[in-house]
Amino acid sequence: MRVILAMSCGLLAGSLAGCGGDEGGSPQDRGSAVYATHCASCHQRDGSGVSNAYPPLGGSATVNGDADTLIAWLLFGTRPATLPPRKGLAVMPQFPWLSDADVAAVLTRVRSQFGNDAPPITVEQVAAVRAAGPRP
Ligand code: HEC
Repeated sequence: MRVILAMSCGLLAGSLAGCGGDEGGSPQDRGSAVYATHCASCHQRDGSGVSNAYPPLGGSATVNGDADTLIAWLLFGTRPATLPPRKGLAVMPQFPWLSDADVAAVLTRVRSQFGNDAPPITVEQVAAVRAAGPRP
């Protein structure tokens, strides 16, 4: 049932708006659904990326590093010092429109899979970085 819920959320054409809130699904399911919908097309389902375009998320110093830096990259595109030099023309979109809960869920997910083992990211951490705004 959980799998079916997560899948139907993913099918809502790019918007998880109707899948968030308090209705059903653990944060883990939600993180997987957000990843599948918004990240896997570039970073691949297994987080291995695409060479010379999309960096791998497994073993990434950014993913496993400072939580606020990782959140600011996703929300505002503030470039982390740990991000390797850009390859080719590929750019990453920013995700300011994802809810705090979705950002926390997807980042917690990538920090705990693909061989990564970093502490979870909380909704409160995301809200604080968002409130502080883009860094210079
Ligand atoms: C359209 C393709 C695309 C999508 C979709 C995308 N990314 Fe990226 N991502 C990139 C590219 C390209 C880079 C490298 C950007 C650069 O070097 O300027 C990157 C870099 C990153 C990094 C930094 C990796 C490192 O080792 O420093 C993280 C973390 C990341 N992405 C997470 C995500 C997450 C989480 C999502 C989904 C919410 C996502 N990305 C969606 C293309 C994408």
